[in-house]
Amino acid sequence: MGTPGKLPASMDYRRTYIRELFALAPGTEAAAYGWVKTRRDSKGIVFVQVNDGSCFQDLQIVVEAGTIPEDTLSHVSTGACVRFDGTIVESPASGQAIELKATGLEVYGGADPSTYPLQKKGATMEFLREIGHLRGRGNTFGAVFRVRSAAARAVHRFFMDRGFHYIHTPIITVSDAEGAGAMFAVTTLLEVNEPLEAGAGDERHFAYRLKSMTPKDDFFGKPAFLTVSGQLEAETLALGLTNVYTFGPTFRAENSSTSRHLAEFWMIEPEMAFCDLDGNMNLAEEFLKEVIASILDHCGADLTFFNQRIEPELLTTLDHVVESPFERMTYTEAVKLLENSGEAFEYPVAWGSDLQSEHERWLTEVKVKRPVIVTDYPKEIKAFYMRMNDDGKTVRAMDVLAPRIGEIIGGSQREERLDQLTARIKAAGLPLEPYWWYLDLRKYGSAPHAGFGLGFERLIMYITGMKNIRDVIPYHRTPGSAEF
Ligand code: 4AD
Ligand code: MG
Repeated sequence: MGTPGKLPASMDYRRTYIRELFALAPGTEAAAYGWVKTRRDSKGIVFVQVNDGSCFQDLQIVVEAGTIPEDTLSHVSTGACVRFDGTIVESPASGQAIELKATGLEVYGGADPSTYPLQKKGATMEFLREIGHLRGRGNTFGAVFRVRSAAARAVHRFFMDRGFHYIHTPIITVSDAEGAGAMFAVTTLLEVNEPLEAGAGDERHFAYRLKSMTPKDDFFGKPAFLTVSGQLEAETLALGLTNVYTFGPTFRAENSSTSRHLAEFWMIEPEMAFCDLDGNMNLAEEFLKEVIASILDHCGADLTFFNQRIEPELLTTLDHVVESPFERMTYTEAVKLLENSGEAFEYPVAWGSDLQSEHERWLTEVKVKRPVIVTDYPKEIKAFYMRMNDDGKTVRAMDVLAPRIGEIIGGSQREERLDQLTARIKAAGLPLEPYWWYLDLRKYGSAPHAGFGLGFERLIMYITGMKNIRDVIPYHRTPGSAEF
């Protein structure tokens, strides 16, 4: 489909991207590779918006009548993959300094307008989830995934700048890090049989068969699971390397279909030796502020879009978070505030019960209007590894709560005393055996230490204003849903 006026095509990543084209001077010859957002025909001129994901802004291509043969131009429709060659010219249109006056066109892949699913503006988030393989071409998801990438970079930079070592903790584990039991089993004892009988259309009827009932026969010789957290292994390396962090996938088989829970999510977990709860809170606060500040610096156009279309107060809120200190209060103080709030909560507040999302939101959105760190929760509602306070009732836990999101970080000072830890594992009804190495840490060179876990998707929700956690990860895994 060659046309005159084309530049030599480059299939090398060292090309000029649309982000860079905006910086070129009028008169420069350039090529724009990307996907067509929209096409508009008007009196002898065709206007085409092209985007390659390198930045929020689309490049406008102007095709004057006669410059490109109609049989090629006819393939230019929403979703088509193209390369336009031409000259950078000043743009008379508002909102863009330059545009590309086309001289040549290559259509790499057309997209039949009668079936291409990503056509109309204003498609619902639910519909876009069903076409997750295409939604990255639209404004919203292009912006979400650019922000997600920039946030990952900021996370690594934050820790690397402070001398933390990036470690990789196992994904397959034999111990329950949270003691909560919501784990996916990893086994080779399960045989999946090919369809028993052909169903209608795509409905095929698979059946499981268990090859053995004995964990000894399994791949690892014992029951194994997908990890719910890399914390316990991170602790082992912190007691040697001092400051470490993990950033990896974690899995939870909780059957909760909320807008804040995924079965597969990414968690960032720093762990520090010679650190107590105050040091831990200081790190968490500094960390959130720096990552948010970095996104404000690097993703301005994407954030402006979120501010206009997704969450009206977004930019003000993010600026505010970077500048103001987080509120810190104990669980006991938080419960008192909630009891005296005069609010009619769906779940009543009482010392000893976990804070519900409505309570977290009241504290952050109504009472304090910025992130709140709640500490010293009752031991019954927190994990076995948290350090016991002298009162014997509460533990050195901390949850960072954010407006709109609720809990964004969970962490604690760890129980470094062998006797106390052993008692806590037993009290949680967990077997001691899988934790032998974790207990060893308390026998040999134990140290006060602390750390936390940040749910990466909750952070991205917070930064973008996106309302559902399914929309800040490319492909979500939730109860009943594992498409793509
Ligand atoms: O509070 P959690 O369960 O803490 C831990 O796993 C600790 N081991 C972390 C540590 O101290 N190293 O989880 C930490 C964070 C939560 O605050 C939340 O942001 C996120 O992980 N999270 C989830 N995000 C998405 N979907 C889920 N199902 C999540 N469960 C927890
Ligand atoms: Mg938690």
